Amino acid sequence: MDDKLARYAHNQRTQYDATSATLEQAQAQVAPDYAELRRIADGYSRFILQHYFQRRGWKADPDQADLSRLRVLDFGCGVGRVMEAFAARGVGQVDGCDISEAMLGHARANPALAASRLHLTQGDDAGGVAAGSYDIAYSFLCLHHIPMRQTRINILRALANALAPEGMVFVELKLFPGATPAKIPARHAHWSENMVATHTNSASDVWVTPDALGMVYEDVRLFFFDIAMIEFDLATNHYDPDPHAIYSLGFNELFVAGTRRPLLKALVTA
Ligand SMILES: C[S@@+](CC[C@H](N)C(=O)[O-])C[C@H]1O[C@@H](n2cnc3c(N)ncnc32)[C@H](O)[C@@H]1O
Repeated sequence: MDDKLARYAHNQRTQYDATSATLEQAQAQVAPDYAELRRIADGYSRFILQHYFQRRGWKADPDQADLSRLRVLDFGCGVGRVMEAFAARGVGQVDGCDISEAMLGHARANPALAASRLHLTQGDDAGGVAAGSYDIAYSFLCLHHIPMRQTRINILRALANALAPEGMVFVELKLFPGATPAKIPARHAHWSENMVATHTNSASDVWVTPDALGMVYEDVRLFFFDIAMIEFDLATNHYDPDPHAIYSLGFNELFVAGTRRPLLKALVTA
């Protein structure tokens, strides 16, 4: 298995490095509509903070709160699109890690991220981040590009290790409500697979099909408590295949969150 993980990581790094030489190329790898995704990163960062505040029983509005003591880690940070949004909110420490040195180079050159530590990973770890040093570890547009289940599990373990005892993980996946295992296209994987993909970034993804939701839960449950699965319905057509779309069936965003130790029951019984 280790050899497969290493081969897959090598394939991923090679592809991201090769396609991200300039900032414009790197942004296009993040998303074809990068400017719009950069704009909405602010709303996502607020949502994550609201969710974290709620889990801790804090009544403050994240828009008004002093966030200078909060420490967040962006997994698969790319050029730092979402990190910029957290930094602009006054979050005290906004760090990132990524498998691609080319991506990290663009993040390092960004003056808005001058105070950030940026770590190169080996593909199934969180780079050199210190254990127990973050309050929130989040990831966007990354884990769904990893069709190797064991790699995702190792990443979840690494994020748990990076978090403080009451820290929260918050990761984005893509859920395909209209797909069944049989409808997953060639080169893409079901959640249960360990695919040593030679492609990445939408060319070889993991498709979360409804039958696999229990497996998603099982994997996150290995390292976290109080698991929440939150679907953002994009109201696309989930059932009619469009052969010209990046994803032939429409998807919804699926956010999975949990904490290093149970917090929610105590909130309601206090
Ligand atoms: C589509 S980009 C998204 C970047 C950023 N998260 C965002 O939302 O703007 C995917 C990023 O994940 C990184 N990545 C992919 N697989 C990874 C892995 N196994 N470990 C760490 N980073 C990875 C890529 O290098 C790339 O920067």
